[in-house]
Order: sequence, then structure tokens, then C-alpha cells
Amino acid sequence: MGKRLVVVGSQWGDEGKGKITDYLAEKADVVVRSQGGNNAGHTIKFNNRKFALHLIPSGIFNPKIINIMGNGMVINPFALLEELEMLKNEGIKDYNLYISNRAHIVLPHHIELDALYETIKGADAVGTTKKGIGPAYMDKVSRVGVRISDLINPESLRKRLKINVDSARVILEANNQTIENFEDLYNNLIEIGQIIKPYITDTSVLLNNLIEDGKNILFEGAQGSMLCVDHGTYPYVTSSSPTAAAVPLNSGISPYLITDVIGVTKAYTTRVGAGVFPTEFEDEIAKTIRKIGNEYGTTTRRPRRIGWLDLVVLKHVKRINGLNNLAIMLLDVLTGIEELKVCVSYNLDGKEIDYIPADYFEYERCKPNYISLPGWNEDITKISSFDELPKNCKNYLKTIEDILKTKVTIVSVGPDRKQTVTLKNIF
Ligand code: GDP
Ligand code: IMO
Ligand code: MG
Repeated sequence: MGKRLVVVGSQWGDEGKGKITDYLAEKADVVVRSQGGNNAGHTIKFNNRKFALHLIPSGIFNPKIINIMGNGMVINPFALLEELEMLKNEGIKDYNLYISNRAHIVLPHHIELDALYETIKGADAVGTTKKGIGPAYMDKVSRVGVRISDLINPESLRKRLKINVDSARVILEANNQTIENFEDLYNNLIEIGQIIKPYITDTSVLLNNLIEDGKNILFEGAQGSMLCVDHGTYPYVTSSSPTAAAVPLNSGISPYLITDVIGVTKAYTTRVGAGVFPTEFEDEIAKTIRKIGNEYGTTTRRPRRIGWLDLVVLKHVKRINGLNNLAIMLLDVLTGIEELKVCVSYNLDGKEIDYIPADYFEYERCKPNYISLPGWNEDITKISSFDELPKNCKNYLKTIEDILKTKVTIVSVGPDRKQTVTLKNIF
């Protein structure tokens, strides 16, 4: 019987999920993306080549992998075309891709609305990626959304698009903004529908058949658990749930089919966009980390905020996801830092706590309590086994394992596919 492994972002996104998914795809049969849209930016490096994917699953570079875009995604059809075009231009032609007929689509006016809602929030803006993700999920839940299946049914598209555009018009026009010409948009969507028609299917049926056939399935997370609309730092979150719990719903399988969950975590912490971030710091060390780690958003190029590793966050994330493995990423970036701080609890108004307060203002008042661990100076970017890691590096990993009571099964020491050490095979 195959395994069904969820790759979960364990912080605020950009943990290296794309790299790990591409790496693990070697031993998998299927890669599924189940939520989010092109707010995600996943970087993959191999054979001196570098790719950024936003919608298409990171198994796409492996011709034997079946790549699925699940029903819980919100897909911008124009961005999807661009990404398919990028693959073509890069000579990536031999792939298997399937798109759920139940996934919702992101339209140009969702992007306008995203910007508008951010403006209304003023100083309290979320700092979204401005890809229209929130408004597209709003329309889904309001039952005025347009789905992938509509793109290949002209009658259905006309009806659904009309309702969708009319709903958006009310808000945009009240704010002195115009909306795109209906017929132009309709015709463009019909055209795109015909281009992507070969990929569109009922991916729940497909996925369940593959599971029955004993295939190894990899669910590639997007965003991070701290951006979860339920369990994250609300309201500074995304509009979906990037947790393992959301995977069955968003891909059309039973919850009991998930066998493993790997938490992908940086050896430190980053965040893009606004919102509470207790271990954030900005000094020379942070600048070095940003430079060495190339900490600039894959989607928006915004400089990422930098912080020390926060084990209170990881404890919370372990609980809500049921993490049974950890992948520690970008460990090489910490090389040369003399003293490494790790947050083990918070001080909230004089009291020590080890949980994430639900109340946003309470969480903002939390001050991190750190332990200090000795750093290392040895270059670790070329190591090929765990044993080759410097003593202090092993000690850093062991401290994480001991406090979280979770095994580190993958260590990443560079962006390339090859710069990865597996301690225990999941597949
Ligand atoms: P994702 O959104 O979780 O897929 O992560 P991103 O691709 O947005 O950001 C992770 C960044 O770290 C990318 O630039 C990767 O190429 C890079 N990266 C991944 N693993 C490592 C690592 O072990 N070391 C270094 N130096 N970079 C890494
Ligand atoms: P990957 O998959 C990092 C953040 C945005 C913003 C908040 C809401 O690459 O890890 P949205 O556009 O989703 O409404 O923005 O969520 N955000 C991410 N941050 N990585 C991502 O994806 C993100 N996707 C959304 O910066 O703070
Ligand atoms: Mg990213």
C-alpha cells in the first residue's frame, strides 16, 4: 500500500516546500496542490537551473509524476497560461497535469478588489500578495464563484460570470472603479478553457483511483500554517487553510487516508506581509541572513522579515497538523553566526506561556524567551550525510527534536535538489 504524505509549511510560508516536494517527487508517483493560488511562490533548483512555480505542482519536472491541481485551489486562468508558457519556453514538455473541474477561478476584478480592501484597511493592511486570492475565496463562499468546469461550458460560464461580475461591479463602482468589459472577459475565458480542456477532470476520482492502485502521493503545501485562516495570526493570514487537516477536503479524499505529515521549517523564521512576529529582529545578523538566504519574496520580491527560530510557533503547528516528521531547511544560512537564539516560550505580561494567544493584541505583547546555542563555522553546503555535520549543527537539530518531540528526517543545506540529506525515508 502506498503512503500519502502531506508537506506542510510550518511557519509563515516560504519554508522551502517547493524544494522538498521536487526532491521527494523522486520517490513519489503523484504530487497534489490542494489550496491557495498564485500567492504561492515555490523555488526549485537542479542541474544549474532555477524555476519559480506559483500554481503548477512542483512535481512537474519529473516526467513520471502525475501532477494534480485540487478542488480547493483558486486558479487565475491567465496566470496558469503564463506558467504553462514558461514551462514550454524552458523546454519542459514531458509532464502529466490534471486540474480539478471544481477548483474556483481568480479573475482580474478579484485583483482590483484585493487592492481596494487593502486600501480600506489603511495602516492595518494585511500586506497581501495582491493576486486576488481573498476576494476569489470570498466569492466561492458567497456562492457567486466561477469554477474551472464553467470554462468549458459556454452556457454555464455566461451565467456564472454574469453573477460574479455583477457582484464585483457593485463594490468597484461604489469606489469609482471600473470593471472589465464582460464580453471581452467572457471570450478570453472561453479561449483559455479550450486550451486547458485536456487537463481538466474530476481529480477526486483520479486521486482516489491512484490511491487504490497503491501509489505514493505527495501533497505539496502552499503558504504556511501560521497563515491559516483558522489557526494562524488572524487577521494577518491568507484566505484558506494551509494545514494537513484541510488537504482531504481540498483534494476530495478521506481524512483517514493521510499517513504522514512533514513540517517544513526554516532553521530560522521569515515572514512577508504584515502581522505579529515575536522573534523578528533587524540588525547586521538579520541583514546577513537576508543576503545569504536570498530572503526576498518569490512572488512579490518583497524583502522578507527575519527572526530567530520560534519553537512556540512550531509546537502550535505540530499540534494543529499532527506533524510526525520535520524537514529543517536553509541550515547553511546560519553558518558563521556565533550565537544562535531559539525561542522556547513567551513572556506575556510577566507570565511565561508556551502557546499562541488567540487574541491578536495579546500575541503582540508576547516577548520571546530565548535559549542560546553555539553556532558553527564549517561550510556545510557540500555534505552528503548527517554524520558530516559539525557537532554544533547536530546539537542545534537535536535541541529542536527534543523540545518538539518530533524527528528531523530531512536536512537541507542549500537550494539545489542535491543539497539535501535524508535521515529516514518516508516513501
Ligand atoms: P516555498 O514557498 O516554501 O516553496 O519556499 P520559497 O521557494 O518561496 O523560498 C525558499 C527559498 O529558499 C528559495 O529561494 C529556495 O531556493 C531556497 N532554499 C531552499 N532550501 C534551501 C537551503 O537549504 N539553503 C539555502 N541556502 N536556500 C534554500
Ligand atoms: P508560499 O507557498 C509567504 C502572505 C502574504 C500576506 C498574507 C495574505 O510561497 O509559502 P494573500 O495574498 O494570500 O491574501 O496574502 O499571506 N502569503 C505568503 N507568504 N509565502 C506564501 O506562499 C504566501 N502566500 C500568502 O504575504 O501576508
Ligand atoms: Mg514561497
